[in-house]
Amino acid sequence: MLHISNSEKNQVNNNTYYNDFPISIAPMMDRTDSHFRKLMRLITKKTLLYTEMINVNSIVYGSIERFTNECNTEEPVALQIGISDTKLVPKISKILSNTNFSEININCGCPSNKVVNGNFGASMMKNPELVGNIIYSLKNLTDKPISVKTRIGIDNYDSKEFLYKFIRSCTKNGAEKIILHARKAILKGLSPHENRNIPPLNYDRAKSVKDKFHNCKIYVNGGIKTLEDVNLLLNYFDGVMIGRAAWNAPWMFSKIDNNYISRLNVIDNYLDYIENKSKLGYSKTVLFRPIFNLFHGIKGSKVWKQSLNNFSNEHRSLSELFNLAIKIENSKLP
Ligand SMILES: Cc1cc2nc3c(=O)[nH]c(=O)nc-3n(C[C@H](O)[C@H](O)[C@H](O)COP(=O)(O)O)c2cc1C
Repeated sequence: MLHISNSEKNQVNNNTYYNDFPISIAPMMDRTDSHFRKLMRLITKKTLLYTEMINVNSIVYGSIERFTNECNTEEPVALQIGISDTKLVPKISKILSNTNFSEININCGCPSNKVVNGNFGASMMKNPELVGNIIYSLKNLTDKPISVKTRIGIDNYDSKEFLYKFIRSCTKNGAEKIILHARKAILKGLSPHENRNIPPLNYDRAKSVKDKFHNCKIYVNGGIKTLEDVNLLLNYFDGVMIGRAAWNAPWMFSKIDNNYISRLNVIDNYLDYIENKSKLGYSKTVLFRPIFNLFHGIKGSKVWKQSLNNFSNEHRSLSELFNLAIKIENSKLP
C-alpha cells in the first residue's frame, strides 16, 4: 500500500479554506469569547475567528459544550488549544471530531507564567520534537487542519536556525499553517503585556520563513493596525492575523467583505442577542463589552462608551441605546 506522509497529505489537501480566509482575528484570552465572535461574525463573513486559548485539560476533564455553544452562528471558528501532553491527543481528537471547529491551533507563543508553568505556550518552542509528536498524532486522529501559533524566538534562542528547526518539526509532522507573531518572547522579566510590545517586531525574519517554507501557509501577526497594513503584508504572506486592533476598532472589519453593511443593522442584531442572552442570566457588562469600541474614531464614541457603562448598571431599555446609536451614526451629537 502506498504510504502518504502527513506533509504529503497536506499538499493533496484542498487549499480553498486558506484562500478564502487570509485574514483572521487572533485568539485573545478574556476577549475573543463567543459574544465577541458573535459581533464580529455580524460584521464580517470573510474573516476567520479564533477562540481564546483553551487548556486541553478543561476539555478532557470538563465539557466541550462550554466552548461550542455559539459556534454554529459564528463559523468558521478555529479552536486554539494549550497542550503539552501527547497522551491526551486521542481523547481530545475524539471530542473535537464532534465539533464544528474548522481548525485546531496549538499555542506555542504565549509567554504568560500560568501558561508556561503548564508547560505549554512559548516554552514549547524549546521542544520541537514534542510539538512535532503532538501534531503528528492529532493529524492522524482528526480530519481538521492543524496549525501552530508561535513567536520568532524565545529568550536567547532567537537565531534563524532555531526558528527553522522548530517550524520544520511542525510542517514535517503535518501542520499546514504557521502563524508567526513576529517578535520573540522573553520569559523572564517581561509580563505578557510587555511581551506584546517591547521585543521589536521583525517582519523580515517572518518573511525569511515564508521564503524557506514556501509550501506551508505562513501567516503573520503582530502590530497590524489598519487595512493598509493588511494589504501590504498580504504581498508577502499567505495571511495575516490581527489581535488588539480587532478589539479596539472592530468596525474596520466591515470593509473586508466588499459588501455594504450598516452599523445600525449590526447593533440592532447584537442588541437582540443581548436581550436573549441576558434572559438566560448572562451579565450585561460582559455582553456589552464587544460593542464598546464600535464607534471607534468617530464623533460620539465617548458618549457611546459612557452610556454602555450606565446601561450595564441600570435597568434601562435597549431601545434607548439603539436610539443613541442612531443619533451617533447620523452625527446628530454635538
Ligand atoms: C488580551 C490579550 C489576550 C491574548 N490571549 C492570547 C491567547 O489566548 N492565545 C494566543 O495565542 N495569543 C494571545 N494573545 C496574543 C495575540 O493573539 C497576538 O498574538 C498579539 O496581541 C499580537 O498581535 P496584535 O499586535 O495584532 O495585537 C493575547 C493578546 C491580548 C491583547
